[in-house]
Amino acid sequence: MQVNIYETAIEAAAAAASLMAKRLCRSPSMVLGLATGGTMEAVYEHLIRHLKAGLSLRCATTFNLDEYVGLASTHPASYRATMQRLLFEHTDINLDRTHLPDGMALNPEQEAARYEAAIADAGGIDLQLLGLGRNGHIAFNEPGTPFDTQTHAVTLDRSTRAANARFFPAGESVPDRAITMGIATILAAQEILWVVTGSEKQTAFSQALLGKVDPQCPASVLQMHPHVIICADRAAAGSVLSSGSVDRKRNFKLRVPKTPKS
Ligand code: F6R
Repeated sequence: MQVNIYETAIEAAAAAASLMAKRLCRSPSMVLGLATGGTMEAVYEHLIRHLKAGLSLRCATTFNLDEYVGLASTHPASYRATMQRLLFEHTDINLDRTHLPDGMALNPEQEAARYEAAIADAGGIDLQLLGLGRNGHIAFNEPGTPFDTQTHAVTLDRSTRAANARFFPAGESVPDRAITMGIATILAAQEILWVVTGSEKQTAFSQALLGKVDPQCPASVLQMHPHVIICADRAAAGSVLSSGSVDRKRNFKLRVPKTPKS
């Protein structure tokens, strides 16, 4: 695991976008796994800067991690609409090659199986962008999700729905179900780019990195993946940095910016 800590969330997002741009330059027709959530907004903002400077998504294929059950793509809080607004409409990407689970599918489990097969048909994910939920979730795999799950329909935790209420129009409730890539689907990606920012992620982040690998903290499974690059800010990394447990035993490479001179 390469753990890169930056002073600010903006710097962490910019570094993540640069890494994505680098991979896209090297392999323009790569399969990118994309994520949503507040953390990703700055990542996409910086990626768009690379696109304006000549980077192209024309040949890339994308698969998003998840989508709410019961939200049409026209709903502003659906992840399809969110991706359109934050990234797709600013790029030259071929929309036919952008994929999200269909939240309106009559049978969400069947849709999940179709989505998993579509990822496999595309040859799997080359680079998966990931965030972190306050309760340790990755994608919408909530605590307790077995590590061998593929794309599936889930019931969201109350805390996840509360955290995401900010993306919904006032008075509208967050759906209680979603379709999400499973933990096995995520682990099958060649490389994982994990962006973690904000002090509210500190507990989950330190548990995921330094705790035991345990389904109660789904993100802890990332310790098992051979190619994870982390871009985190100091606010999220606080206890990770102070614990002194990031050592060679865990195969971590830690890069921390020098403390600015006062
Ligand atoms: C969204 C997703 C979620 C978010 C997580 C953090 O596609 O998969 O796991 O990454 O809920 O969200 P923010 O960044 O809003 O704190």
